[in-house]
Formats: sequence, structure tokens, C-alpha cells
Amino acid sequence: MSSPERHVQPVHVQQDWKPDSWQRRVAVQQPQYEQASELETALSSLSTLPPLVTSWEILTLKGLLAEAADGKRFLLQGGDCAESFSDCNSGLISNRLKVLLQMSLVLVHGLRKPILRVGRFAGQYAKPRSTDTETRDGVTLPSYRGDLINGPEFTTASRRADPARLLQGHACSAMTMNFVRALIDGGFADLHHPEYWDLAWVEHSPLAGEYRRMVAGIADAVRFMETLAGQPIASFSRVDFYTSHEALLLYYEQALTRQVPRQWGWFNLATHFPWIGMRTAALDGAHVEYCRGIRNPIGLKLGPGVAPDALLRVIEALNPDDEPGRLTLIHRMGAGTIAGTLPPLLQAVRASGRRVLWCCDPMHGNTETLGSGVKTRRFANIRSELEQAFELHAMAGTRLGGVHLELTGEDVTECMGGARDITEAGLARAYKSTVDPRLNYEQALELAMLIVRKSGGMPTTG
Ligand code: PEP
Ligand code: CO
Repeated sequence: MSSPERHVQPVHVQQDWKPDSWQRRVAVQQPQYEQASELETALSSLSTLPPLVTSWEILTLKGLLAEAADGKRFLLQGGDCAESFSDCNSGLISNRLKVLLQMSLVLVHGLRKPILRVGRFAGQYAKPRSTDTETRDGVTLPSYRGDLINGPEFTTASRRADPARLLQGHACSAMTMNFVRALIDGGFADLHHPEYWDLAWVEHSPLAGEYRRMVAGIADAVRFMETLAGQPIASFSRVDFYTSHEALLLYYEQALTRQVPRQWGWFNLATHFPWIGMRTAALDGAHVEYCRGIRNPIGLKLGPGVAPDALLRVIEALNPDDEPGRLTLIHRMGAGTIAGTLPPLLQAVRASGRRVLWCCDPMHGNTETLGSGVKTRRFANIRSELEQAFELHAMAGTRLGGVHLELTGEDVTECMGGARDITEAGLARAYKSTVDPRLNYEQALELAMLIVRKSGGMPTTG
């Protein structure tokens, strides 16, 4: 685990940076807290609580992301749009883990390379919103900004930004993290028992046959390898999971930004892999300022409005030493615009020689609101954006090394289409998201199968 270079400081130590230097910049998408003293009290408690992850896990992940950029691994980043405190329970957490494990099995089998699993969980509690307020029947209240800030119910009390939620967010993240770690250490992700990951409601899925044939093939391969080795192979018994969330609420991130013994610099120990959302990616903004000084790998969302020269300046700010694994560019353009907006960015980054991992988020550019007011995404658009992304990277001579998805292990009906062809009328059956529509289990698995086909891997039908 230890490599000597980790202890060497790079050329550009971010000297003029401190965990709170972001406060001198414009911080968009932050709540208004009524009482500064109440916020101070919560933050000072938070800054003494134990962290959720460790610096060596963060540095290991950075190395793995560098390998994904080199084509040696594929990144699967996924989970809820927003976690909620009430969803912090064993069933929901283990179902989300099951979907990610099943998808990664499809990907391992088809792509013939290790999959790097990163959850959007254990801290994905703050959401950027397009408007600061929401009006219903003539009543205007602050928008819901995620459970870390306020509540989704449309009442004055619930929509108030409450600093006590910062501590609750830390507690729920820690409980989620603890449960995920315990499941994995206890053998939940054991390749000898992929049946542990089955979800009850999928027995009759149109994809079940294809999935089961693939699992049987993997079980045969595991037995074959162990027969050859003459003993069980320990690495088949566990897989690693890393965590990620949008580094949005900077007071929270700052309170969990720490120095650790025998390491230089600062780490965000609230998550392994924070990302900067599309709405907070301004070069001179507070979020880029905060992220440039921490040693975690950073994700950066790119929307259709990003100009190539602006992107190169943000890359320079976040990764002046061109450190491998440091920066993942997550493009989310929309199926209708990606063909025009992505290639100039690919060309500019390629020409600059900068090392980045490219990742496609086919969800956030494809959100639409139906006449009924329901927010949805069409599976056909998600699929199309992902397919185009593979093709555009191939044409540009760059590599699509990962995918970023919003999904759940529950039987929800939030995105239209997919194997069971969910219709507009069908959305009402089980629409549960308070923010963005997520892929359900089947739709997520279908997408994993599609990735295998598009990236030239093994066909999963057999
Ligand atoms: C998200 O990932 O939930 C999100 C809000 O994404 P973006 O910043 O790309 O819109
Ligand atoms: Co979202």
C-alpha cells in the first residue's frame, strides 16, 4: 500500500491555500443560515468528530483512477441522486450495493478488466437547485437543498436551513459507511456467492436469463482458477467500494478537512472522491478554490456550456502538476447536444497533453419535465448519450474510462423506457425520488450490458 512518492511534495504546493480560503470567493448554491452562532456551534462539533475515510484509502483510490485513465480499469460510479436521512436503513443500503455489484459483474465479464466501484453514497446529502425558492399555491419558501441543509416537506419549519442537520448528515454517512464496510468484510461481495446480491423482485425480469448465464460462467471460471491454484483464492472473496459525493456545502467539507500524521497537505476525510457540480465549477468560485487544496482525487462535471479554454484553466488550477488520477472529467451533455459539445473539449485536453480520466454521466443532460409536472428521463436518451460518448472518444483518440449513473436497488418507476418499457402512465406506480429520477435495477443492469457491447467487449448473450 505504501509508495515512497506519496510522501514527496509536488512542485506546486498550494501555498496560498487554507481549508477556509474558499470563504474569500463567491460561493454559489449555499444556504442562508439565520443564526451565525448556531452554525458555529454545529461546525465546531463537526470538526472534532472522527472522519469517515482515511488518507491511505484516498491515495489508493487516486492510484486506481490513474489506472482507469490508462485503460487498465473501468470506473463505475453510481448511486442515488440524493440520499435522505430516512433512507439510511439496512434494506436500502444493501440493495444499492447489490445493484452496483451486479453491474460490476456484468462489466468485469464483458470488458475483461477490473472495475473500480465508487458509490454516490455515505454523504450525498446536498443538492444544487436551479432556483433559490419554490412557490406553491401563492406560498413561496426556500427550495429543498438536500437533507444536509433542510427538509423536503413544503412547510416553513422544514425548509429552514438547520445547522443541526450537519451533524445528522455526518452520523448517517458514518452509519452507511460502517454498514457497507461490515457487509463487505463479512463476505457479502464474495464472488463464490453472487446469489447474495439477488434482489427479490427481479426473478421475472426480462434480463434475468442473460444475467444468470453470465453468473454461471463466472462461477465456473472461479472454480477453475481455484482448482488450478489448489486452494481458495482470497481476492475472490471481497471487492472494494469507495465513496463519493458532490462537495457542495463547503462549511461541511471544510469541517472534515484534516491533516494526518506522516502525510503532507490536507485531505477531505468526509469522502474518498468529492466532485464539483456543473453549477459550481467557475474558475474563480469558492468550490474550485476549496478543491484545489485537498489531496483527494477530484471529479469535475462538464455541461454543454463549457468552453475548451475555460476547461484548460480549471484543469491547471486543480491539477497544476498533472498528477495521475487527480482529475476525472465527468461530461453530462445531453443526447441531443453531445455530438457538438464534447469533441472540442476532447481535442483541447488531448492537445494539452494533460492526464485526465474521462467519465460519462448520461443522466443529467437528459432530464425533462412532462406536461404533468413529473421530472423524468428517457432510457433511450440515456442510452443514446452513452453510445455517442463511446463513439466520440474513439474518433477523438481519447478513452472513455468510466460511467456516472443515478440508480437505486428499489423497484422504482422514475425513468421511462428500458426492458419493461415504463410508460408515462406507468411512472406513477412507484415514483419515489424527491430530486432527480433514477434508473431502477433492471434499467441499470441493461445499461451495464450496453456498455459492454459499445466498448467492444464480450457480448453478454450466450
Ligand atoms: C448531480 O450529480 O446530482 C448533479 C446535480 O449533477 P450536475 O452538477 O452535473 O448537474
Ligand atoms: Co442528480
